[in-house]
Amino acid sequence: MAAITGQTVLITGANRGIGRALLEEALHRGAQRVYAGTRGAFTHPDERVVPLLLDVTDAAQVRQTAQTVASLDLLINNAGVGVLDDLDDRAILESHLAVNLFGVHAVTQAFLPLLVRSRGAVVNNLSMSALAPLPIIPAYSISKAAALSLTQSQRMLFAGRGVSVHAVLIGPTDTDMSRPFDAPKDAPESVAQAIFDGVANGEEDIFPDSASRTMAAGWRSGPAKELEREYAAIAAADSYA
Ligand SMILES: NC(=O)c1ccc[n+]([C@@H]2O[C@H](COP(=O)([O-])OP(=O)(O)OC[C@H]3O[C@@H](n4cnc5c(N)ncnc54)[C@H](OP(=O)(O)O)[C@@H]3O)[C@@H](O)[C@H]2O)c1
Repeated sequence: MAAITGQTVLITGANRGIGRALLEEALHRGAQRVYAGTRGAFTHPDERVVPLLLDVTDAAQVRQTAQTVASLDLLINNAGVGVLDDLDDRAILESHLAVNLFGVHAVTQAFLPLLVRSRGAVVNNLSMSALAPLPIIPAYSISKAAALSLTQSQRMLFAGRGVSVHAVLIGPTDTDMSRPFDAPKDAPESVAQAIFDGVANGEEDIFPDSASRTMAAGWRSGPAKELEREYAAIAAADSYA
């Protein structure tokens, strides 16, 4: 079990689903403080939990929240939306991008100075549908594919400043979001454990459940990952030139 003893963690969308499981797992692993980002009021009996009002689409709230946090070791961009669509309605695509792409970008930029100071880490909760779109959720899939690209760019750009960036390619997990899907689902608790294990093991891309795990070896040895490594090497050479 990976210890995060003494670390400070911030989780967006911490009130339910995978975010809530991550919150409990962080406490279980000995985190010193867990900032729980939520859109509504939130309380928790453990005094290490500090609720933060944090709608990731609200720029002013993101800015204000960053000012109230003194130090941070691990940022987990978990908040997400996912609804069925067929690309007929542009507003649905925009609402997915607002949370799943621009929300991740805004929160990470706001907390980056603290993460640079701690030489910390960012975890972006993505989806297997970032790699191939599920036809019943194309808007969601587009937003997660874009967020994967964002994650890869953040990884290259932040490496020189000592901040590691992890993508989590999550498969079906038993939460409110996956309610419409009739498929075998892993428990959010085991997914949360695998995410912390992946970070502790230094895995750039984490496959935290039984469906996604089947893709891990192929992804890591595949041409897309190889290209990412080549580009990362160029970026690293440039930044030290
Ligand atoms: N469950 C799966 O099968 C699955 C598979 C692949 C990836 N994922 C990803 O894993 C992450 C967690 O998903 P989940 O299954 O736990 O979903 P969930 O049960 O639907 O929970 C979503 C969480 O995100 C929060 N949220 C939504 N919009 C937000 C906003 N604008 N600002 C702040 N918080 C916001 C929700 O807050 P409210 O309670 O206020 O709505 C809630 O806490 C998401 O990024 C999701 O895309 C899930």
